[in-house]
Amino acid sequence: MKLLVTAGPTREYLDPVRFLSNRSSGKMGFAVAQAAAERGHAVTLVAGPVALPTPGHVSRVDVVSALDMLAAVRRLLADQDALVMCAAVADWRPKTQSVVKLKKAEMPPAIGLEPNPDILKTVYPLKEGRLFVGFAAETGDPLAEAQRKLTGKGLDLIVANDVTRPGAGFEVDTNLVTFLTAAEPPRTLPLQSKLDVGRAIVAWLEQRVSGL
Ligand code: CTP
Repeated sequence: MKLLVTAGPTREYLDPVRFLSNRSSGKMGFAVAQAAAERGHAVTLVAGPVALPTPGHVSRVDVVSALDMLAAVRRLLADQDALVMCAAVADWRPKTQSVVKLKKAEMPPAIGLEPNPDILKTVYPLKEGRLFVGFAAETGDPLAEAQRKLTGKGLDLIVANDVTRPGAGFEVDTNLVTFLTAAEPPRTLPLQSKLDVGRAIVAWLEQRVSGL
């Protein structure tokens, strides 16, 4: 298969030194990319700003903002069999970006924001026969939200996790996830390394592609 994987946070700059972002380390997306490359798939990894080495045999495209990530996904999707959106895309960006560092005296007490596009929804018209996988990282029981996102974003699989559970969520090397699809009952995987979660996602994609 040819897989496009996104990973990490995006940064939404206010000026050259300040940005809005989130706690994503990129580990889950890099693990999916590594797991897919280990199985011999051709992987393109679109990475937000993260401090991680590129897994072997993975082609990496670095991006900064949500708009950059959308442009990269749009450009690269035509050639792919599946899109796995692990990235924690910032939902908002500052309305204005200063090219020079803002001085304290010029800083507004509130920052005007505008919404970023939803990447999955924006590229949905290009989906055709491709498989789309999303993530739902929630605080608390993620299943209702994951179900809403599975349907609302037209996904084939959503990987849900509660980031407040020990061993799940940000920065750690393990994850505790539940797979949700339109056709099958939810399947909760044991607590395991992000690499093994990545392998389970790749195995799910392989099964779907081979029609098993
Ligand atoms: N996603 C996306 N584009 C965005 C935000 C999210 O493609 N602008 C993708 C993520 O990569 C993930 C899925 O959508 O695979 C769910 O992300 P999440 O942040 O949970 O979704 P939101 O739509 O932002 O939902 P919420 O209402 O919880 O903020």
